[in-house]
Amino acid sequence: MLKLPGLIDPHVHVREPGQTHKEDWDTATQAALAGGITMILAMPNTKPPIFDASTLELAFAAAKQKARCDYAQFIGAGPDNAAMAASLADKAAGLKMYLDSTFGELRLDDMALWMPHFEKYPKDFPIVLHSESRTMAAGILFAAIYDRPVHIAHISLKEEVLLIKAARERGIKVTCEVCPHHLFLSKEDIPAISHGHPGRSEVRPRLATKEDVDALWENMDVIDCFATDHAPHTLEEKDSDNPPPGFPGLETILPLLLTAVSESRLAIPDLIEKMYTNPRKIFNLPEPGETWIEVDENAEYEIKTANQFTRCGWTPFEGWKVKGKVRKVVLRGTTAFENGKILVEQGYGKDIRSLKGDL
Ligand code: NCD
Ligand code: ZN
Repeated sequence: MLKLPGLIDPHVHVREPGQTHKEDWDTATQAALAGGITMILAMPNTKPPIFDASTLELAFAAAKQKARCDYAQFIGAGPDNAAMAASLADKAAGLKMYLDSTFGELRLDDMALWMPHFEKYPKDFPIVLHSESRTMAAGILFAAIYDRPVHIAHISLKEEVLLIKAARERGIKVTCEVCPHHLFLSKEDIPAISHGHPGRSEVRPRLATKEDVDALWENMDVIDCFATDHAPHTLEEKDSDNPPPGFPGLETILPLLLTAVSESRLAIPDLIEKMYTNPRKIFNLPEPGETWIEVDENAEYEIKTANQFTRCGWTPFEGWKVKGKVRKVVLRGTTAFENGKILVEQGYGKDIRSLKGDL
């Protein structure tokens, strides 16, 4: 049995408030625990989006009642909420800025709207950018101009990882995360994921070329974090005429990465660094006491929708043979998951920003 720290996922779409038919604070945090993740950072593109004190309270009320693992909630950057968002910084996971096409209403195209956020948001909390390709380059320039850290969400392209490397060599404060689907899938896998329904392979950023995927693996040392971008939509929605982009990922990230470990493509210390040490540093997260997971490295099995806790009812990795299974999760001294069963109640999870000091 391999013992690892409780893992941290800095990019999760919980869907509550507003779209609980896809997921809610209960099912998302059950999926997290089953996946070996004990802390999630929740994205603000809910309905309504989380962008001020009252919408933040909506998310907190649902999370307080239902969450089974620990969490923090991002605030979304809108066209005129820079001062408000900054005033809420110590309650939030960080500020999320949507600068490229995505799911939901939060998107800032005009760079003049980025400026007040970069001016006002406290520098000891990160600004997370959804920014692809040249938009990412603009985001990194903002980090340099305003001399503050930015974290680039879900990088997927060779040009992105190379530019981040170059920026960091020049002292610009930029960190990044990569998602399993951009490490294990490329455009070439689209027919296999689709099963005749093109919407199933829709995700932002889109699946990239084999060359991009290879570049991410080759530059693993540039990647600070692994994040799921768990973006659940129901199978019915994915198979509709207007399919929303996004893949679920909380329950598949660790088995996929452990399979890469078993193939010597990744080492356990890298996994710990990118799913625990670095997210704690970048997002300023407390040390959870008496929290760990136990994993059977040799368990081989097939990924199956039927075994998942997420409400969305599908996975792009259906039928994949993986090696490495979460057997037990201990969260703050209590066994939260063991042998396929969730053992903590709704409401056990804590808002880590509401606590002073370590958990
Ligand atoms: C995300 C979603 O569904 O909320 N979709 C996605 O394809 N990643 C939105 C996002 O993360 O941009
Ligand atoms: Zn996302």
